[in-house]
Amino acid sequence: MTTIPTQTFHDGHAIPAFGLGIWQVSRDDCPRVVREAIEMGYRMIDGAAMYDNETEMGQGIRDSGIPRTDLFLTSKVWNDRMDHDAVRRSVDDSLERIGVDQLDLMLLHWPFPAQDTYVAAWKALIAAQEDGQVRSIGVSNFQKDHLDRVIAETGVRPVLNQIEVNPKLQQAQLAQVNDSRDIVTQSWSPLGNARSFDADPITKIAERTGKTPAQVILRWHLDIGNAVISRSTKTDHLRANMDIFDFNLTDDDLTAIATLDTGERTGPDPEQFNGLG
Ligand SMILES: NC(=O)c1ccc[n+]([C@@H]2O[C@H](COP(=O)([O-])OP(=O)(O)OC[C@H]3O[C@@H](n4cnc5c(N)ncnc54)[C@H](OP(=O)(O)O)[C@@H]3O)[C@@H](O)[C@H]2O)c1
Repeated sequence: MTTIPTQTFHDGHAIPAFGLGIWQVSRDDCPRVVREAIEMGYRMIDGAAMYDNETEMGQGIRDSGIPRTDLFLTSKVWNDRMDHDAVRRSVDDSLERIGVDQLDLMLLHWPFPAQDTYVAAWKALIAAQEDGQVRSIGVSNFQKDHLDRVIAETGVRPVLNQIEVNPKLQQAQLAQVNDSRDIVTQSWSPLGNARSFDADPITKIAERTGKTPAQVILRWHLDIGNAVISRSTKTDHLRANMDIFDFNLTDDDLTAIATLDTGERTGPDPEQFNGLG
């Protein structure tokens, strides 16, 4: 079975560099998708309160029969819970729904700067970590100022920042901000709605390596130093997406893919997004 490399956090724990995301995976599909992925060798599952499938995520984990200690489980606190007490309740609820005593990683899903409570929310995650409910704590969609503020006001650095990255939105600057603070960059929506599948450098690399455009793009995330989570509900895509550990991109490949960066997001702007409709 494929061994997935890990990245080590500044707190000493390690995360598989590749894993399964379950955003938009229906409650009906979720137990099967999680079980199949784990049976294939996936060890990291990226969930969130907002995905509305944490109970089913837990079901899939139990159905796989793989020991809890062999898995890396992430969840996230949604924007409607961004104050101290609500974050603590959100962590309690995620643990109960997934059916575990501790999560490996809990993230603040978005900074929601208009509400300006992300520092209080971060303090609540620090408390949840001190209480042993979560092993490591991090953030998602945080920009430089948000990172620097939580670090300045609490002295505690997130271990990871999960951000939108794909060939059209490469985020090299924010990845450098993360890197210089020893924060792992993890790419979400790594395939970028397939917008680069037929781009010249991607198709050429796919032809040369005998891989698909999706596999080339997932490998690119690893080769620029990011951890990455991908999603599929299809068994053949789940299998193909983890078949990316037997090749590397060359420096010339990375240079060619760098030209695809237009800065266009598929998701919302973290400075504006409140997620509450
Ligand atoms: N923190 C955040 O704000 C945030 C935001 C968005 C996502 N995320 C996380 O990041 C994860 C990944 O992002 P994403 O869900 O947008 O996933 P993605 O992997 O970028 O894209 C998933 C889409 O690509 C298709 N796909 C998957 N593998 C394929 C393949 N080999 N060939 C062709 N098409 C393929 C899937 O369709 P099929 O099912 O048909 O294969 C699905 O439509 C999420 O699930 C979630 O955990 C986080």
